[in-house]
Amino acid sequence: MKKKILSGILSAVMAASLLAGCGQAAQTTTETPAAEPAATEAPAAEPAAEPAAEPAAAGGGKVGVAMPTKDLQRWNQDGANMEEQLKAAGYEVDLQYASNDIATQVSQIENMISSGAQVLVIASIDGDSLGTVLEQAKEAGIKVIAYDRLIMNSDAVSYYATFDNYMVGTKQGEYIEQQLDLKNAAGPFNMEIFTGDPGDNNARFFYGGAIDVLKPYIDEGKLVVKSGQVDFDKVATANWATENAQSRMDAIISANYADGTKLDAVLCSNDSTALGVTNSLEANYTGDWPIITGQDCDVANVKNMIAGKQSMSIFKDTRTLAAKTVEMVDAIMKGTEAPVNDTKTYDNGTGIIPSYLCEPVFADVNNYKELLIDSGYYTEDQLK
Ligand code: BGC
Repeated sequence: MKKKILSGILSAVMAASLLAGCGQAAQTTTETPAAEPAATEAPAAEPAAEPAAEPAAAGGGKVGVAMPTKDLQRWNQDGANMEEQLKAAGYEVDLQYASNDIATQVSQIENMISSGAQVLVIASIDGDSLGTVLEQAKEAGIKVIAYDRLIMNSDAVSYYATFDNYMVGTKQGEYIEQQLDLKNAAGPFNMEIFTGDPGDNNARFFYGGAIDVLKPYIDEGKLVVKSGQVDFDKVATANWATENAQSRMDAIISANYADGTKLDAVLCSNDSTALGVTNSLEANYTGDWPIITGQDCDVANVKNMIAGKQSMSIFKDTRTLAAKTVEMVDAIMKGTEAPVNDTKTYDNGTGIIPSYLCEPVFADVNNYKELLIDSGYYTEDQLK
């Protein structure tokens, strides 16, 4: 199979965005989380070691950190970073992973409440399923921070710490726009779309950001989605699962591209879906390799980027998100103002949740070394 050599058109833009982020220096990552339900796939990459964080004046108190799953590399890193940074700030940490099972996450949160947590930091599996348990938290005077994913329809949520999810989608859409030169080229180009789990509020923001860039080209016929699957519900991927994306791509290829029709681009909202699409293409597709987007800079996907099998990934430095969340925890514990930079975007159904949006940056084969290795996020060996 021919592999498309990625052009370096965007490297200058990317270089300029390297220094962006949460406006906060990245902090430390030295370890993976403590033993929890076993990962079923994609074991966590050991983040590269960095000097230990300056311990803050010990505030004390217990923080419950509920993460969705160990199956995806990023949540292992998020959990490890949160645990380390909270401990360095003097807090006791109860870190739990729920194997992507909603009932497990609910019972973990119940345990955190009954065992005396004062603040809960929750990356929900399904944003709509925590209302009842969070009522208990509210009654007990426990504050809740929604981490990365917004918790919907609960007035127990005080703050939301995340990346600018719409911007993630915009950057993915703009990448395809620039690589295919959609503003100038005549086309038509063939594209397919894969987004995330419908229970994850982020998925609609990623999809929305990208589709707002690409929809005009679809409408004018310059971009053709041969499968006809464009609407969010049609392109969602349950659980963000690699195998679900892979089987949908298998079906799309056999119905539309098996005769040698060229596929020019695949908009994938994140790396687990990109991996499924890539696996399917490797097994079933013989044409020129398409542009494939992603998000998270998971090790397997960065390796694919280096090998020319994935074009880009959005880098969301989990160290900076953890650092910002720890600042929020600290402010809640001390009764001071938590840092927020957005008070209009994220309405969870009970009103706007004050948010801190970190800035996602763009990674590809031209800048990954600077972004991921020089910053200490990965070691060179991890990407071999
Ligand atoms: C996160 C992404 C992640 C996806 C699947 C989203 O909520 O923001 O970074 O790839 O979930 O876990």
